[in-house]
Formats: sequence, C-alpha cells, structure tokens
Amino acid sequence: MQLDTSDSPRQAGALTVLGLESSCDESAAAIVRLDGAGRPSVLAETVRSQDDIHAPFGGVVPEIAARAHAEIMDTLVERVLAEAGLGLPDMDGIAATSGPGLIGGVMAALMTAKGLALGTGKPLLAVNHLEGHALSPRLSEPVEFPYLLLLVSGGHTQLLIAEDVGCYHRLGSTLDDAAGEAFDKTAKIMGLGFPGGPALERAARNGDRDRFDLPVPLSNRPGYEFSFAGLKTAARQIWEEFDNPTPADISDLSAGLQHRIAQSLANRSSNAMNYFIETFPDTASPTFVVAGGVAANQEIRKTIETVATDHGFRLIAPPLKWCTDNAAMIALAGAEHLRRGETDGLNAPARARWPLDEASAKLQPVIGSGRKGPKA
Ligand code: KG4
Ligand code: ZN
Repeated sequence: MQLDTSDSPRQAGALTVLGLESSCDESAAAIVRLDGAGRPSVLAETVRSQDDIHAPFGGVVPEIAARAHAEIMDTLVERVLAEAGLGLPDMDGIAATSGPGLIGGVMAALMTAKGLALGTGKPLLAVNHLEGHALSPRLSEPVEFPYLLLLVSGGHTQLLIAEDVGCYHRLGSTLDDAAGEAFDKTAKIMGLGFPGGPALERAARNGDRDRFDLPVPLSNRPGYEFSFAGLKTAARQIWEEFDNPTPADISDLSAGLQHRIAQSLANRSSNAMNYFIETFPDTASPTFVVAGGVAANQEIRKTIETVATDHGFRLIAPPLKWCTDNAAMIALAGAEHLRRGETDGLNAPARARWPLDEASAKLQPVIGSGRKGPKA
C-alpha cells in the first residue's frame, strides 16, 4: 500500500467503493458505502457461482474458473452500478481481491479493477481476500477491535486476532488440509457431488455420528493449529471397506466426520479464547467471529456457539451470503483502507499466496497446498 497524502475530502465524508472478487469459484461485484462515521452499508451486490461449471469435474478447474471469471466481470460491474443507481464517477475507489487465490482467477477481478481505476482516475485498492473475510462481520453489525476470528473456508482454516484494519495476528492455521477440504474430498469419494460441504451436511442429517471410530484431530492438546488430513484418511479407509454402501452407511460416516470436524474446531477455538482473555483482559465484551464457507454448517455453528458462551464470548457469524465468498467484504476492506489514505498503484501484483499476518507466516512455514493455493 502507498500512503495517499493528497488533501482529499474523503477523510471526512462518506466513501463509496466498488469491490470485485474472483479468487476461487465465485465471481462477485458489490458497492459498499462507509458513512462519515465509518458505518458500512451495502448498496448493491451480486454473486455468480461457478458450481454448475465445475460440478462435472468434482472440483474447481483453475483454467476454466479463470476464463469464466473474465467473461462475466464487466456484466457484474454493470449490474451493481444499475442496482445502486450509480455510475463509475460516483465511486471513490475501485477494490479487487489481489490474492491469495487461484492466480488466473485473481487476475480477472484485479485487471478489471485496474482498467476501471485507470479509465476513471479513481484509486485502486488491492485487497487481501482473507482480510475481506476477517472484516466481513462488520458488514452486518458494529464489531469493536480486537476480536478473535476463526476463518474456515475451502483453502484456509486459521485462528486470528483482528487488532485493527490491516493489523492481524495469526495464532495458528492448518498443518495440512483445511476443514473445507476434508468436507469436499470426503464428499467426493462418497459420490455426494460438488460442492462437498453442503452435500455432506445434508447426508449427515439423521446419521449416527458415533457408529465409526474416527479421531478428533489434536483433541485436548494445547495450541491453535489444526490438522484434518488424518481424519480425512480415516474416513476414506472406512469408506473403502464397504462393498455396497447403503444410504445409512453414507449418512453415518458423514455425521461422524462432520461431528469430529466440529469438535476439533471448537477445541482449538477454546484454547484461542483462553489466550485472548489472557492477552486482552480489559476487553469488556470479548467477541468471537466465525467466517468462511464452512461456517455455514449448522452443527459447526452450534458447537462453536456453546464454546463461545462457556468462555463468556459473544459469537458473531455473518449471514451466509457474507460467510462464503462475496464482493461486499472486498469493497468494505477496500473502503476501510481508502478511509485511512492507503491506496495501491496500478502495478499491484496478483498473488497466489499472501498471508494476512506476514510475521507469523515467516515463523510457521507453509505446508501443503489447498484448493485456493498454498496455505498461509
Ligand atoms: O469461503 P468459501 O466460500 O470459499 C473459499 O474461500 O474457499 O468456502 C468454501 C468451502 C468449501 O470447502 C465448501 O464445501 C465449504 O466451504 N462449505 C461447507 C458448507 N457450505 C460450504 N462446509 C460444510 N458445511 C456446509 N454447509
Ligand atoms: Zn474465501
């Protein structure tokens, strides 16, 4: 980011930002306005999921994703401008996810934003997708810093402390697979379809979660890291022993896996809540935010809510449309940086990997690679 030192009226007044997102398999555009007091409102938003495009392949195909994003970006921009009754001259800035993510996809939104910024002379805001998720709860209600955040998406599972806009401290992330990958890959081997998470949740309904002996990863161990590869493998091994799996077998295995993932997330979150309370003892009403697509899972929400309540935390789970990938959170993150006078040059790079907390990432090397690129 470079500091915008111009004497601009945006410091005091309202700011309106167009945001674009294309880092995985959702193409999205949104317009968010911050009022003079910094309160956000979403003026328009649209998301085009690529689920139908990738379903035949059972997972996201990066080249197909990139092309589909590039084809639709302009249309999405026109749609949100029309819905908000605004034109490009009414924007104060143009924001786009510039990483981390599938690089071809990231470039679709970023290049569109650069073109619009160049054409209109408006500042570009190159947004970290993870920061978008981290700030997403602020779209629906005021959330004071610092707060604790569990980010659970297709490519990321991490616990962070959000101290301020642009200031995040990563407590821990996954050592191997993300929780979303454990859902997606297990759903795939059971033939439940794509995307796997919601399909597995449906299959788990009425299942017997205790029928199979599955481990709860890192259960009752100190620390904030996650690990889901062992659980995923255990589920696969059980699956491979069935000759002719019945609907009950699918349902019970799904329920067992979902329950263990929920337990593990809750267990590690509990450690993080203790750390947060020790570190910020004066926080009057500590807040725990759960964001990312996996947070759509009802058992996970309920389990985490119980842990949060037990630790005296207020739980905030953004509405589903802002839990999964969307552009409102990108426009919001861009607007927050614009409000602070932090804008980007047109040479801002698209980044496959971009840890939100560079310092912690250096201490904890990257291991493995997820659906959205290497984890960090
Ligand atoms: O945040 P997101 O939309 O995209 C990424 O940034 O990755 O998260 C997508 C992930 C996928 O792994 C998907 O299977 C998972 O969220 N997911 C779910 C549910 N809905 C989406 N996992 C479990 N239960 C759900 N209901
Ligand atoms: Zn995401």
